[in-house]
Amino acid sequence: MKKALMIAAALALTTSAAAAGKLEIFSWWSGDEGPALDALIKVYKQKYPSVAVDNATVSGGAGTNAKAVLKTRMLGGTPPDSFQAHAGQELIGTWVVANRMEDLSGLFKSEGWDKAFPKDLVRLISSKGGIWSVPVNVHRSNVMWYNPAKLKAWGVTVPKTWPEFLKTCSTLKAKGVAAPLVVGENWTQQHLWESVAIGTLGAKGWEDLWSGKLKFTDPRVVGVFTTFGKVMDCANKDASGLSWQQASDRVISGQSAFNIMGDWAAGYFTTTKKLAPNTGFGWAPAPGTTKTFVMLADSFGLPKGAKNRAEALNWLKVLGSKAGQDAFNPLKGSIAARTDSDLSKYNTYSRSAAADWKSNKIVGSLVHGAVAPESFMSAFGTVIDQYVASRNSSGAAAAAQQLAARAGIGK
Ligand code: GAL
Repeated sequence: MKKALMIAAALALTTSAAAAGKLEIFSWWSGDEGPALDALIKVYKQKYPSVAVDNATVSGGAGTNAKAVLKTRMLGGTPPDSFQAHAGQELIGTWVVANRMEDLSGLFKSEGWDKAFPKDLVRLISSKGGIWSVPVNVHRSNVMWYNPAKLKAWGVTVPKTWPEFLKTCSTLKAKGVAAPLVVGENWTQQHLWESVAIGTLGAKGWEDLWSGKLKFTDPRVVGVFTTFGKVMDCANKDASGLSWQQASDRVISGQSAFNIMGDWAAGYFTTTKKLAPNTGFGWAPAPGTTKTFVMLADSFGLPKGAKNRAEALNWLKVLGSKAGQDAFNPLKGSIAARTDSDLSKYNTYSRSAAADWKSNKIVGSLVHGAVAPESFMSAFGTVIDQYVASRNSSGAAAAAQQLAARAGIGK
């Protein structure tokens, strides 16, 4: 081969090797939670067929395990190229304040995302003049799931307030339903606490709690713990051994009447269990939270020092695109974060969530990272565990207030 030709061939090889590239995406969406992410990766692969995608997952609902692994990798200087984190304080209060993330403002501008996403959502992912992640969805946390045929057979309706729920619980117990409510491992109990708190304090009281105006030691919040205890008396005794999916299964099988869970449960019911909304499963706002949408958003960021930065930026572009969001969300149970999504691709549940997202009062979820930093959230799990064991409402409230002060909530 002539020298010039050889050089050209060698150059072509390097270029294609570079174009081939790699991308490691880190999340907790494995197993039953995987199909939506697979659909998003498929959209990416259509655009970048030669990139080898490493779909690195650490299973465990709400990211309890994944977040611990992520911490080790971030602190050890081997960040994934892009990782899942909740929009809001979870990412900002942890990795942004530690100066470990790249500012994505430029990307938001070049992709026109300042217009494609709701302003309040962009505000949630912004701080210190930067925008720190790309939201792929909006999930709703305050949903009560039930099996319509079973409720009919038991002759009960969906309770609209927590006091009403407690009455329904007694009725069901009298009919031989040992655990009218099903809960799972610790984080799902915190998730329940969140709905009890918002349903008791109202949206305004919830906002006041995170702005520091309302203290955990206020009698109203102490009362939330007491109500939470009564609600837990309606639940199964083997909670700590159940994943959120196993808890959802008990509603479908009719072992329990109700479960409070985010609308990834809708994704599980429709995508994994192939159930139809309204017949296979029913839903309502958690008691006391009608007209309030407790939101959270899964987002992905770009850590400083990502090995495959260019590929990660392309991944983020796909994640924020209309095609990407409308491939991911119909399978996930969430709605698109973008305002221009094609609702004809979504089922009846998701369309009702999309309508509520537009018309309801929006507040942020605690358990899924919107309102409080990781340091508060992880320690709050212990407060819930201790409360469930002791039923000491004022003790739990005092412990939560100490955590809030330490995490700088309300400062
Ligand atoms: C949430 C996350 C959802 C879903 C859920 C259960 O924190 O935002 O997308 O994965 O955990 O694992």
